[in-house]
Amino acid sequence: MAEHVLLIGGGGREHAIARALENGSDDEVALYACAGNRNPGIARLATEFETLETTNPKAVREYAEKVGATLAVVGPEAPLEAGVVDELEDAGIYAFGPKAEEARIETDKAFQRRFMAEHDVPGCPDFETFDDMDAACDYIDEYDGDLAIKPAGLTGGKGVKVIGDQVTDEEGKEYIRDSDYDRIVLEERLVGEEFTVQAVVADGELRTAPAVQDHKRAYEGDEGPNTGGMGSYSDATFELPFMTEADYEAAVSIMEATVEALEEYRGILYGQFMLTSEGPKVIEFNARFGDPEAMNTLPVLETPFLDVLSAARDGDRLPELEFASQATVCKYAVPEGYPTDPKAGAKVQVDEESAGDALLYYASVDERDDGIYTTTSRAFAVVGVADSITEAEEIAEEALEVAGEEGLHVRHDIGKPDLVRQRIDHVEELRGEQ
Ligand code: AMP
Ligand code: GLY
Repeated sequence: MAEHVLLIGGGGREHAIARALENGSDDEVALYACAGNRNPGIARLATEFETLETTNPKAVREYAEKVGATLAVVGPEAPLEAGVVDELEDAGIYAFGPKAEEARIETDKAFQRRFMAEHDVPGCPDFETFDDMDAACDYIDEYDGDLAIKPAGLTGGKGVKVIGDQVTDEEGKEYIRDSDYDRIVLEERLVGEEFTVQAVVADGELRTAPAVQDHKRAYEGDEGPNTGGMGSYSDATFELPFMTEADYEAAVSIMEATVEALEEYRGILYGQFMLTSEGPKVIEFNARFGDPEAMNTLPVLETPFLDVLSAARDGDRLPELEFASQATVCKYAVPEGYPTDPKAGAKVQVDEESAGDALLYYASVDERDDGIYTTTSRAFAVVGVADSITEAEEIAEEALEVAGEEGLHVRHDIGKPDLVRQRIDHVEELRGEQ
């Protein structure tokens, strides 16, 4: 019998999941997809694509039942927070993703920090949580050093302000007073290089993927506002060029300790780390694949993703994950003005065929009779896969040439030798200062 897999979510990450589900399993798969936006890339791979509100658990359940889903996989965090996994489970449908309670590791940053502290999970920065914004401002005045200001709830990666980097003490306090957050976390500013490790988790076991580095800032040279992520790269090994194997292993141990403490967790656990002079520290956990990081990881995953999901559902040991020894570079094309003042409506000139050797993943686009157009969010990503980061970057850039620049913005510096070198120098400098 074919597995009927329901994929929830319509971004680049979910397009990558859809492709990974097609790859190589002996079991047949019929893919059904639902999202708030129609993703043309996923729609082409799916038997059926339904546009619905994915944060409405009842709507997702109804659709899952209608298509006879034997498995579901949740891409983004919002449906996890809304309890889509809980609702599907009530309907007897196994969904790969944590239930709302376990997803708090991502959806509630105050919970996340307290959880790490209570369970002695290593790599937790100094932190305090606040419901009283005046008390938070006093804490900023008293604290010796720079702090990161983090709203406790979901903000699409755009709510954090780092004192000493993006804002001054005074601007930080103004931000707290002017926003209407109920609860915030103030934590020690970590200095170093960021990286991500994603893992598949079920039954207390985890299987990790190669490290990836995302680029959150909108403009080249890491300038400008934070975004959902402008692009990312991974190397042909599990580490990145600025890390040692021991750094990667230290990050994995932190994730292992977290999974052990979480007990019931299943789905993807995404650890975002800062490689500091004292080793990796946790910036945050997410309860799902990263977007863009999924587009680095899934194209090099050689183990059929469907087999991973069905093992998790059936309570079998998770298969070991095999990855091709290849580097990847992913670059997002976003609408001009993104994220502060995005201008929608540019025609997307590249498609999956004309992207050449690169992989093309659609994110938030609008498919009309005469073509595909940008909206106000990240539009599409191109991914190069090759023996080295440099070659992968060139492949991604070739596809971007076809895409043109009209109405689009891309961080061309991602994955280029200069920027990678800067990362290496940065870590060497931090280690040298010790
Ligand atoms: P988040 O929404 O937690 O991913 O945070 C967004 C960005 O804020 C991260 O990618 C980091 O660049 C930065 N950030 C978050 N927490 C800290 C911290 N404690 N120290 C320095 N930077 C941080
Ligand atoms: N790339 C960052 C995230 O998915 O949260």
